[in-house]
Amino acid sequence: MTHADRTSHPDAPVLAAEITAYYERGGEYNRLREGDGRLEFWRTQDVLRRLLPPAPARILDVGGGSGIHAEWLAADGYRVDLVDPVPSHVEQAAGIPRVRAHVGDARSLDVPEGTAEVVLLLGPLYHLTARRERVAALAEAHRVLIPGGLVVAATINRFAGIHDTLNKGAYFDPGLRPQIEAAAHDGRLRAAEGEKSMFTTAYFHQPEEVPAEFTAAGLTPTGQYGLEGAAWLMGGLASWLDDPGRRELVLHAMRRTESVPSLLGVSGHVLTAGRKQDDAPDAAGS
Ligand SMILES: C[S@@+](CC[C@H](N)C(=O)[O-])C[C@H]1O[C@@H](n2cnc3c(N)ncnc32)[C@H](O)[C@@H]1O
Repeated sequence: MTHADRTSHPDAPVLAAEITAYYERGGEYNRLREGDGRLEFWRTQDVLRRLLPPAPARILDVGGGSGIHAEWLAADGYRVDLVDPVPSHVEQAAGIPRVRAHVGDARSLDVPEGTAEVVLLLGPLYHLTARRERVAALAEAHRVLIPGGLVVAATINRFAGIHDTLNKGAYFDPGLRPQIEAAAHDGRLRAAEGEKSMFTTAYFHQPEEVPAEFTAAGLTPTGQYGLEGAAWLMGGLASWLDDPGRRELVLHAMRRTESVPSLLGVSGHVLTAGRKQDDAPDAAGS
């Protein structure tokens, strides 16, 4: 079953209890389908549609949640397998036409090596708080990719917590501010279930850390894309997204700034793309 080294104890649950409890509240299904969350959805779709090989390439959507991206990828003609450790997410995703969904862990995929043209990691790196665990997940992506295959990984930016809570007003809450400041200091958001928190246990990257993690996993980084730019912090966003003409202009504006190095960290999320080299040795090192 396991192909990669699990750096934690093999019997340890994939997710810490507070992370499982957070996702079992069921918020993922609607998170990107309404309000400001639609910016992250449409921008992810916009960047991926420019990077992906043509359908019907095989895509492994690791940490795919309830299938928000798997759904349109399958509708675009891709062969999509989704893996997620949260059973309720997998149950929802398995109901999407032409999507196969399985419970699993990014660090130890039950997938043969060299079989996926694309691996998406749009979420697992948020919750792997130790660098060695994130590199293990990226190395698993490398293992299951065909030579020349594409990996795209999402990370949350180091100062997203400060920006988001200032924007929404929670930063002014003295009960929340120490947790937000701690995450801005070392990237680690520490959250216990039941505690007041804006999210759950997570690691917030500096954008430049991610290509180094790709390289450590044997992947060649090829580009970085800020998803929300500065637009996610602008008051009119939800109404702009409601208007199809303005929405297109917002997406156009965010394309203009998406890979400007000095602006990457302003976004809430960054996508980092990379490839397994064409001449990459297989897992046996041959
Ligand atoms: C914020 S959600 C993102 C879901 C979806 N990919 C999206 O872009 O909206 C993060 C997802 O990563 C999953 N996840 C967390 N740790 C993981 C791990 N070690 N392996 C695979 N998935 C993991 C969670 O269960 C959750 O579904």
